[in-house]
Amino acid sequence: MNRREALLTAAALATLPRVALAAPARILKPQPGKARLAPIERPETAIWGYDGLVPGPEIRVGQGEEVRATLANGLDQPTTIHWHGIRIDNAMDGVAALTQDPVKPGKTFDYAFTVPDAGSYWYHPHNRTWEQMARGLYGPLIVEEAEPPAYDRDLILMLDDWRLTEDAAIDEASFGSLRDWSHAGRLGNWPTMNGAPQPDYPVKRNERLRLRLYNVCNASVLVLRLDGMTAQVVAHDGMPSAPAPLDGTITLAPAQRIDLIADVTGDEPALWLAGRENFRTCGFPVKGKARRKPLTDTTAFPPNPLPETLDMSDPLRTTLTVGGGAMGGLEEARIGGFGAAYRGEEPVEGVLPLRTLAQEHDLVWALNAVAGMPADPLFSAELGRTVVVKLVNEGRWPHAMHVHGHHFRETKPGSPWRDTILLGPRETKEIVFPADNPGRWMLHCHMLEHQAGGMGTWFEVA
Ligand code: C2O
Ligand code: CU
Repeated sequence: MNRREALLTAAALATLPRVALAAPARILKPQPGKARLAPIERPETAIWGYDGLVPGPEIRVGQGEEVRATLANGLDQPTTIHWHGIRIDNAMDGVAALTQDPVKPGKTFDYAFTVPDAGSYWYHPHNRTWEQMARGLYGPLIVEEAEPPAYDRDLILMLDDWRLTEDAAIDEASFGSLRDWSHAGRLGNWPTMNGAPQPDYPVKRNERLRLRLYNVCNASVLVLRLDGMTAQVVAHDGMPSAPAPLDGTITLAPAQRIDLIADVTGDEPALWLAGRENFRTCGFPVKGKARRKPLTDTTAFPPNPLPETLDMSDPLRTTLTVGGGAMGGLEEARIGGFGAAYRGEEPVEGVLPLRTLAQEHDLVWALNAVAGMPADPLFSAELGRTVVVKLVNEGRWPHAMHVHGHHFRETKPGSPWRDTILLGPRETKEIVFPADNPGRWMLHCHMLEHQAGGMGTWFEVA
């Protein structure tokens, strides 16, 4: 067996379920709670969290296993759970109006799905996401490799930024602010790590850590610097990539993740928001010694069952152009008719001036000159067809484009598999993926105010 065959066999084995019997469903209850987000001299913050916690409970399963969770809605508004980055059965994708009815207050919904890929994933609502996530609804979903390369400890690092008032309450007055929606989204003024202010995670000298970094901010692009450790990047958005030395800063768009293998080699290890913010998000005080010398070689994580080569003989090609936003120069757009039939309404039809879209429909962005989810899919692909999407950003704001149910890569050679990609101002990127998961899938900006303000579309795989 050559190396490639060995890897493929390992991947095939890794997808075999480790347990034959389904585990009992856990209950996840989004509900109000309290969290100590701000430093000790300020009050606690009233949040919404799964089981009242922020982040929500860690869900950890083996690759190929089944996740069973009952959403029990303890909020006073409808919600759903979306399992971000999981190449999931469409009916379990948790997108309100597209894949399920939103779950009303006091009601439940049973999620059950198998996880094909190992890696760092997460869950969050997909209904009024811009408000529900800003209030603290998100949690980690970790899918373990059957045989990961050796490390001493696994640390989940979910980085959020909150917009708090002076007395550490969530700034509610600015929810729905069209100014945020048409500019960079809801940017916070107080970062937390795992729902805490600048926590410390004690480590040992020469310990080898697996760091799972998440950007769970509504809209902030994070630029991070890891001090005091020697690190290799080993996965993007859950999917393993060839280990590459971390050199300089890490840029994480909203919803993106990165996995690092990090050896505690230096002094005062800490993770910083780089640049002018220069804020220590968490520290890793060194206590004791794990081994005499740091480990030096890093082996790649076993690959997930994604194709190594894509059939490029006849791809379905489409272009998605982002327009609108402040100073975007867009004057009018067709209003998306999605959900009207679902709600038993006549779809609002027609091309409207951007001003009317904003004032009457809270829509400030457009994809291919359609503001809001269109009634018709962006494209319909036969199962297994290769899809190439050219993402064109004509405006001045960055966007974090996210595809549901699939991972993609840039057509640029050597690009990693991802589920979310940062599209800079006036930037064009081309992504490609096999449309191998049947159903109706969203493609949207993960800057949640942009999504709510019109940057969402969907496609179909049949
Ligand atoms: Cu993280 Cu459409 O979602
Ligand atoms: Cu955006």
